[in-house]
Amino acid sequence: MNKHIAVLAGDGIGPEITDGAIAVLKKVAEKYGHDFTFEPLLMGGCAIDACGEPLPAHTVERCLASDSVLLGAVGGPKWDSLPGDRRPEKGLLGIRKAMNLYSNIRPAKLWPALADASPLKKSLVENGIEILVVRELTGGIYFGERGRYEDESMGETAWDTEKYSVREIERITEIACKLAQKRTKKIISVDKANVLESSRLWRKTVHAYAEKHYPDVTVEDMLVDNTAMQIVKNPAQFDVLLTSNMFGDILSDEAAQVTGSIGMLASSSLGDGTRGLYEPIHGSAPDIAGKDVANPIATVLSAAMMLRDSFGLPDEARAVERAIAQVLDEGYRTADILSEGMKKVGCKEMATLIAERI
Ligand code: IPM
Ligand code: MG
Repeated sequence: MNKHIAVLAGDGIGPEITDGAIAVLKKVAEKYGHDFTFEPLLMGGCAIDACGEPLPAHTVERCLASDSVLLGAVGGPKWDSLPGDRRPEKGLLGIRKAMNLYSNIRPAKLWPALADASPLKKSLVENGIEILVVRELTGGIYFGERGRYEDESMGETAWDTEKYSVREIERITEIACKLAQKRTKKIISVDKANVLESSRLWRKTVHAYAEKHYPDVTVEDMLVDNTAMQIVKNPAQFDVLLTSNMFGDILSDEAAQVTGSIGMLASSSLGDGTRGLYEPIHGSAPDIAGKDVANPIATVLSAAMMLRDSFGLPDEARAVERAIAQVLDEGYRTADILSEGMKKVGCKEMATLIAERI
């Protein structure tokens, strides 16, 4: 199979972790007789430095011409004082929107070898955790209108808007229901319907859609503040968690941490077709950038999701996931997941160890 992959390495640890994932994908190609080509493109802070904008038109054009996109991470203190519409993050939001990737899947699972890395009590994690966050990705407050003005009595004032339409809610509900059907057939839909009008429409639409099209799937609602609490109180109660853009952003970091490390969580972003964007859920970690200590596993797992969900290569995806489990079982750890008696390795070595086991 021939596949052309656009690579947006981005900033901070982005280049190191995407290099790791590319090394693993190259091994997969060699082993299974595929031809994968990789095209590096600028997005984020590095694009601001090179061309003055976070998402050059050329990058969008080439991503749309690719079979899928692999992304590292964007942002860093260097660009923190830029105005909102010229920040690196704007590049990431922009490419998701340009590719119409409205569905973001973030599986938070506890790897048996890493059970000790969870900050939660053993009794809470011993039966495993496997939360699938299904996050709406191109709507809501991250894309709503915003502005600033001078208020006469309160001074400078800023505003953002949360807005959702029935169609936007239905299409992400469709994705969540499809995934739930293959799992426990239970969805918890997160909202703040006791306060927000957009959440009341969210709740009503999710139920109406699921009842009509997926009568075998149960939908329960949970308020976002309670969800944040329940994730640390009893993470095992969750299977598919359906969320808006902002709630999913926040809760997926929380779900990641209860499973041990945010350095282990992958994500896929898809729209109506098979071309997707695959990225770790963590950020660019500028404090450890360039030191070869970052954990490449979230990005390697994202590459595995690309193999399965965009390229239809489930055996290859499983081979990557098995290789990761094997490396962890053999005791190799990057700094973020290190525990006593384990063998500490850097970013590059971790990726090499995984590639060797494919
Ligand atoms: C994420 C990140 C991004 C988001 C930022 C960097 C724009 O936090 O992918 O979770 O909010 O979606
Ligand atoms: Mg986030």
